Amino acid sequence: MAEFGQAFTTQMVVSNFQDNHWTAPEVKPIGPFSFHPGTHVLHYSSTCFEGLKAYRWTDGSIHLFRYQDNIRRLRNSAAALCLPVPSDELLEASIFAAVKAVVSEIPDLPGALYIRPTLIGTELNIGAAGRGSKEALLYVITSPVGDYFAGGIRPLKLLIDDENMRSTPKFGQVKTGGNYAASLGSVTQARAEFGADQVLFCPGGQVQETGAANFILLKGNEVITKKLDGSILPGITRDSILKLAAEQGYQIKEIDYTVDELLAWLPESEAFLSGTAAVLSPVGSLIYHGKEYLLGDGKIGEKSVQLKAKLTGIQTGKNNDTYRWTT
Ligand code: COI
Repeated sequence: MAEFGQAFTTQMVVSNFQDNHWTAPEVKPIGPFSFHPGTHVLHYSSTCFEGLKAYRWTDGSIHLFRYQDNIRRLRNSAAALCLPVPSDELLEASIFAAVKAVVSEIPDLPGALYIRPTLIGTELNIGAAGRGSKEALLYVITSPVGDYFAGGIRPLKLLIDDENMRSTPKFGQVKTGGNYAASLGSVTQARAEFGADQVLFCPGGQVQETGAANFILLKGNEVITKKLDGSILPGITRDSILKLAAEQGYQIKEIDYTVDELLAWLPESEAFLSGTAAVLSPVGSLIYHGKEYLLGDGKIGEKSVQLKAKLTGIQTGKNNDTYRWTT
């Protein structure tokens, strides 16, 4: 299978916001858009997106996971970027149409269909006139995917970056391209210099999240992760894992914590990244100021494996969906 995000299905769904109304979602063959060079998004990054997955269960039926939460988050992101906010109904119809159009292209388990609803500001305007783009394009593209990290399930190596931020204190919760672009320099350097898979952003020594996913620690009976304060993405996978862990008897601690505290906890902890793409990806070690620190023995932890099985069991129809997360 191609690397994550590099294969696409044959169809997409598009809808335009012009003259104050949205056009009905239209299914089309996937292909290039044509934009005037003065288009708003090309200058002011007026863009937000979502990532969710559809799974082909073993009986052949297709199921989305918590798509209503992705719709809510996209609407919040659109509002933060002063973009026209698509209705719940339009987003649901667009996502459903995008999946139905490519049903035969959805891979069998353990693969999935990654769904990428995207909203961009299309007004012809480089004036930045104290308001957002009055015109917008909503499109949903889809991509057959497997594991996010190359090399399959293996303990990841993260570099702790205590100098750079992936976003601002309140904009980190917005799923916008700029937040990802801001992390790329640090991630690229971490790869080249340390062979790291990702960067854990800890501006001012405060642990936040990685460039591509939330960061969660399992320490004894505690699940520790940065609290949602606007500076990090409110992950839907993060929320699902916290709920499943609480059900397993873990004590959930959504807190602010420092790199020093994190390093002190590592020998007795497991850690993983959580996200739609990353699912639950175990971490084996962290590099800080040139030194490598292991999580436990540096191997994939048993508790992480168990939590992942709980989550993916629901997503793939093997476990009872008591939360009614699947559609
Ligand atoms: C996701 O997990 O859906 C994301 O949007 C992260 C992205 C870097 C693939």
